[in-house]
This record gives sequence, structure tokens and C-alpha cells, in this order.
Amino acid sequence: MKLFIDTANIEEIEKANSYGVLDGVTTNPTLLSKEGAEPLSQLKKICSIVKGPVSAEVTSLEAKGMVKEAGELSEISSNIVIKVPSTVEGLKATKELSDAGIKTNLTLCFSPSQALLVAKAGAAYVSPFVGRLDDVSTDGMQLIEDIRLIYDNYNIATQIIAASVRHPIHFLESARMGADVATVPFSVIEKLMNHPLTDIGIRRFLDDWAKLKTGLEKK
Ligand code: G3P
Repeated sequence: MKLFIDTANIEEIEKANSYGVLDGVTTNPTLLSKEGAEPLSQLKKICSIVKGPVSAEVTSLEAKGMVKEAGELSEISSNIVIKVPSTVEGLKATKELSDAGIKTNLTLCFSPSQALLVAKAGAAYVSPFVGRLDDVSTDGMQLIEDIRLIYDNYNIATQIIAASVRHPIHFLESARMGADVATVPFSVIEKLMNHPLTDIGIRRFLDDWAKLKTGLEKK
């Protein structure tokens, strides 16, 4: 499973990238607005750090406007992927963009039917928002499982990005269910390699090593 970071923060992207396991970045208008910088130049900076796909979202509600914005965003860098909402207008824009060879990531996906239609329109990626479904007492991970089943039934190549990931269990379950990608906030990425038994084990090995050294010095 690929690992994307879900942020527009340069420091977080640089840190996660330094781990050597980062495959891409997803942003959205909320994440970019948190940074307060001019969005196109912020996206350019992000693309200079990460060579994998970087999702940048359109804000128009109509297909025509989405396609126009997609053209501007695509000029930033060749690794930009256009994030489009999972609406009827988003479908129209996706069809036009995919016919023109522009990659799209269909965001705000909350149902298997949305996921099937965006794939038919040629979406390169679909982003089911698992955490936001959990927030309304609906099992978010079930959506990933359903989409995986449907895509496999028809050999659909659209990649499933588990999005709105809130904790390590979302990440783990995404891998179990066969999501192609999990896009994860930095605060959760940091937790993925933590294990208290690893820390205890290291401490014990180092203590024993020190004891051995001291013992040898006394001989
Ligand atoms: O990947 C989508 C993400 O940015 C939304 O996350 O936590 O706002 O639901 P959240």
C-alpha cells in the first residue's frame, strides 16, 4: 500500500519525506488555508519536495470551471493530480480531464455508487473519507471494503485512497482491505513506527552491552 501524507505543511512533508517511505501528498482547501500562503506557490514548493502524485483541489462547483482550474493547477508541475468533488459536475469534469490525459482524484466519496461512477468517468484515484463516516456513526472502513470488492469484480484500475484517516487502526485496516493508498496526517504517520516493546528492547540491549563493556574493562 502506498503512503501519502495529508497536509499542506512544508515542515511535515519534509520530515515525512526524510523517512524514505512517502509516495505522495494530498491537499485540500482547508489544509492549504491553514498554511496561510498563496496556494499555487505552496503547491509548487510541495511538488519540489515530493516527486510522487500531489493532489490539488478545484473549488468551482461546475464542470466548466473545474476544467479551467485544472488547467491552471496542472501547470504547477507534472506530478499534480486534480482533486474533484464526487458530484455530477465532478463526473463531467473527470471525463473531460481523463480524456485529455489529466489525472484526477475524486474526493468526498461517501458511497460505493459514487466510487463506481467516478471510476467509469476515468478517475485515476477515488478518496473515500473513512473518518468522517465514523463521525456520523457509520463504519467508514466498510466503504473501503465495498469499493475494493466492486473494483475487483470489474477489474477497475482506479486507485482507492483511504482518506480522512484519523488513527493507526484506519491505516492498518486500509492495508488489510486492499486500499491502494492511505493518505495520513503527519500526527498519525509519527505513530505508525512507535511500539513500547521496541523501545524497551533497545534499552535492554544497550544496558547489557554497556555491562559487557564494563566487565571486559575490569578484566
Ligand atoms: O484526506 C481528506 C482529509 O483531509 C479530511 O480529513 O480529518 O478533515 O476528515 P478530515
